Amino acid sequence: MVVKIVRMGPILLIDSGIGGLPYLSWIQENLAEENLVYVADRLNFPYGEKSPEEVSEKVVRLGRSLLKSFDPKLLIVACNTASVYALNALRQELPIPVVGVVPAVKSAAAVTRNRRIGILATDLTVRSLYLADLIRDFAGNCQVFSLSAGDIVRYVEEDFFHPQHEERRQMLGLWSRRLRELNVDTVVLGCTHFLHVIPELRELLGDSVTLVDSQSGVGRRAKQLLEEKGLRNREGKGEGVFYVHWQKDSDLDPMEVKKYQLFAQRFHLRYGGYYIDG
Ligand code: DGL
Repeated sequence: MVVKIVRMGPILLIDSGIGGLPYLSWIQENLAEENLVYVADRLNFPYGEKSPEEVSEKVVRLGRSLLKSFDPKLLIVACNTASVYALNALRQELPIPVVGVVPAVKSAAAVTRNRRIGILATDLTVRSLYLADLIRDFAGNCQVFSLSAGDIVRYVEEDFFHPQHEERRQMLGLWSRRLRELNVDTVVLGCTHFLHVIPELRELLGDSVTLVDSQSGVGRRAKQLLEEKGLRNREGKGEGVFYVHWQKDSDLDPMEVKKYQLFAQRFHLRYGGYYIDG
């Protein structure tokens, strides 16, 4: 008799902060039986302001450590910047399937009517060869404007709970004006953090602009991989835990901890505290 050993660890999601949470939501809604571990790499935030080598080194190192700690069956790199610079290395290093998030240029090219597309992403993603290749391969017949919007990343990660709706609108208003001046009818949210401000962006940009992201594409790819490899949990209700990657012997500002606790709660995750690599 052949005994098939199936690894049924959790699905692991990583990002530099809270950006990957909307991607986790898709998994919760569509793969409700799965256990999830979400790690916000606050120690290395923001990825978009580091060098490509640093991002790759830090993300691979974290991936290795999390593999040992949680024995996940699948890793979702819920971050465009980390995917652009570390996906290949992660796939070489880790013995589990790895799914990345890359800017949804292909989807944007499929829906644009005036062939003018805006991409909002981190500086590192905007400057990447990876993005240039995506644009060449999938949106060669469009005019594409890639904009480094690291200030939205910081705003979402650091200030999200402080400003009122009106202040958010003002900050994002600068971006929407820029996008309107460029007369784009489709905007790619090329950084996972930006999914947190979709309602504000929709309101500011109006109905004539379509926002696209990779959320369902990434979720469907994860589902497909789990099914192909016989790794799907088919019973029960999965649980999720949220960790903040931080360092030994120091504490985050209590307000920041509070923020992570609130986000964990908002996304139906248990707050697991700090993750410290050994
Ligand atoms: N959320 C990440 C992304 O999708 C990056 C944010 C950052 O750390 O700069 O690009």
